[in-house]
Amino acid sequence: MHFLSREYFIHGTMSTELILNYDQDSVNHVLRTTRSVRKRLDFERPVPDVLIQESIDIALNAAPGAAGMVPIHFMVITDDEIKRIVGGFYREAFLEGIGSSSSSSQRIKKPTIGYLAENIERSPALVIHCAEGNPEDMPQTAGYYGQILPSAWSFMLALRVRGLGTVWTALHLRYAQEIADVLGIPNHISQTVLFPVAFFKGEDNFSPPNRPESQQFIHWNQWGINHTD
Ligand SMILES: Cc1cc2nc3c(=O)[nH]c(=O)nc-3n(C[C@H](O)[C@H](O)[C@H](O)COP(=O)(O)O)c2cc1C
Repeated sequence: MHFLSREYFIHGTMSTELILNYDQDSVNHVLRTTRSVRKRLDFERPVPDVLIQESIDIALNAAPGAAGMVPIHFMVITDDEIKRIVGGFYREAFLEGIGSSSSSSQRIKKPTIGYLAENIERSPALVIHCAEGNPEDMPQTAGYYGQILPSAWSFMLALRVRGLGTVWTALHLRYAQEIADVLGIPNHISQTVLFPVAFFKGEDNFSPPNRPESQQFIHWNQWGINHTD
């Protein structure tokens, strides 16, 4: 374990030295490079249940949520026949949506997204993140999703550090009711994300995504003011 010490300056004076009992560079690396994995999902290598359980445990315990106000559930599907049915709904939604889209950005990504749609049920596990309640019944939709979605991202990170890849998908929601019927998910449960889970093939050499400079999206005290102005 690495111990990093950092000196912090607040208003020009040095504050208490902060000791981190983890390797900050590694944590930053995982945060920056946890990417969508589709073509590198290893459909042949079994995933031990315990790795999924550990990742869910981390997701449920570590993600911010207002004291469990909205209970979160993870539906783990490993049965081949059920995966085939759920995968079929996902593929159908793809074909009705992105698969028939003519927008250029979707066209660029279509081969990898299409590859996933064709093969999703070959993933050793399909995991559906869901939560109790319905956003429409909540006074604030953002409040509802704010309590539940961080756990989905934590789940992705926890998978990553176990050598597992996934991708955040939601196409299945078009068939949420049909999927709920197959899986016996009660009416008061909302599905959010469907994660295909598999070990990733090859090395852990993911690069950060190519996103615009963050500066233009940071506003200090007044909208549109950034530190480089
Ligand atoms: C709400 C939401 C729904 C998404 N649904 C899907 C989906 O159904 N299928 C898919 O292949 N990608 C889907 N994506 C896209 C990927 O999760 C991811 O954002 C995209 O591939 C870019 O990831 P990358 O920068 O790591 O490559 C969705 C993303 C979001 C935010």
